[in-house]
Amino acid sequence: MTARLLTGIGRLFSPTAARTVDHVEDAVVALDGTRIEWVGSRTDLPRELRDRETIDCEGRAVVPGFVDAHTHLVFAGDRATEFSRRLGGETYESIAAAGGGIRATVDATRAASRDELVAASSARLDRMIGAGTTTVEIKTGYGLDLATESKMVDVIEALAAATPVDVVTTVLAAHATPEGTSRDSYLELVMGEVIPMLAGRAAFCDVFCDPVGFSADECRMVLDTASAHGLGLRVHADQTGRAGGAEMAAAMGAASADHLDHATAADLEALRRAGTVAVLLPGASLTMRLPFPGGRAVWDSGVELALATDCNPGTSYLETMPFVVALGVLEMGLSPSEALWAATLGGARALQLADRGVIAPGMRADLVVLDTDHHVDLSYRPDGDHIWQVVAGGRPLRG
Ligand code: NIG
Ligand code: FE
Repeated sequence: MTARLLTGIGRLFSPTAARTVDHVEDAVVALDGTRIEWVGSRTDLPRELRDRETIDCEGRAVVPGFVDAHTHLVFAGDRATEFSRRLGGETYESIAAAGGGIRATVDATRAASRDELVAASSARLDRMIGAGTTTVEIKTGYGLDLATESKMVDVIEALAAATPVDVVTTVLAAHATPEGTSRDSYLELVMGEVIPMLAGRAAFCDVFCDPVGFSADECRMVLDTASAHGLGLRVHADQTGRAGGAEMAAAMGAASADHLDHATAADLEALRRAGTVAVLLPGASLTMRLPFPGGRAVWDSGVELALATDCNPGTSYLETMPFVVALGVLEMGLSPSEALWAATLGGARALQLADRGVIAPGMRADLVVLDTDHHVDLSYRPDGDHIWQVVAGGRPLRG
């Protein structure tokens, strides 16, 4: 792997553990293959690092690669027809109750071959990467049987093997109850077969703890099983209504509680004490035309905050983190620095990855060169393509 220099960085923005964003002007970053070796101002660059292949950023801003900590990237088909029905006044819940919603995507995903799923998903992944994502979490959950949940993991592994960015696998078998099965017998399958069979190929287990998903008690049993199989825990918590998901996530020491549209101040306090990261997903609110989750309140509560796309065909067909950052600022009351923090270091904390989200020696060489001199443009000019170069694991991905 080539040792490189990024020179001519007008402003380098790096999130800190204290939930601030540091910046260095006229900066240089030295990459030693896949890791960052040195960061500082041009005038301090050690002589022995100067003679390297160079990317001249010509005054542009550099931020860490985005960490998208919540996606349902692997699916077949789309739900544009349901989207139109919702625009016409039908609800997500009534469409789901009539066999649409998650189950419609389950039918399409079961019918698709592994290669078809890889092709559809890698097109989405390429667009994510083009917009600066260098780490992506991907969930199963459109299989709802052992064969298809396992096929989804095959697809995630195929994507991971072919992409320069880092992929984190999450088993979300407890996403919905499949057609024609009782809740109890499906949960038995999840705990007795799906989790034991797939645990060795995933980092996390997620559950949909929600009035339209599973109860907090049901989710606790699933997560206990996941934990016993060595998986980290994540929770879709209290999205369409309060189901005790946030409280349960905190009590179980989950890595993250996601959505949180109906979380209370007491829920946030429980998450803060537990060190569980709140992952907010403004694309779902935008697409469902619902009030945005309280980003300001979450940030001010002291809970660590991540922003993610929730890329899925039902509630948030979003692929790009810069747009999520813009929503965080324009619709959720975050400052541009807070939103940048949440989309980079916040995502890394949510995935419990200590080696990214910060531009410092020893960290993964995951960087985005913006085609502007300040990250504020991500929300100030929200429809712009602000990405000039993406470096993933030390590799520049654009020409
Ligand atoms: O994160 N809420 C559960 N899961 C997805 C939606 C899945 C779907 O509708 O296909 C979400 O919003
Ligand atoms: Fe989701």
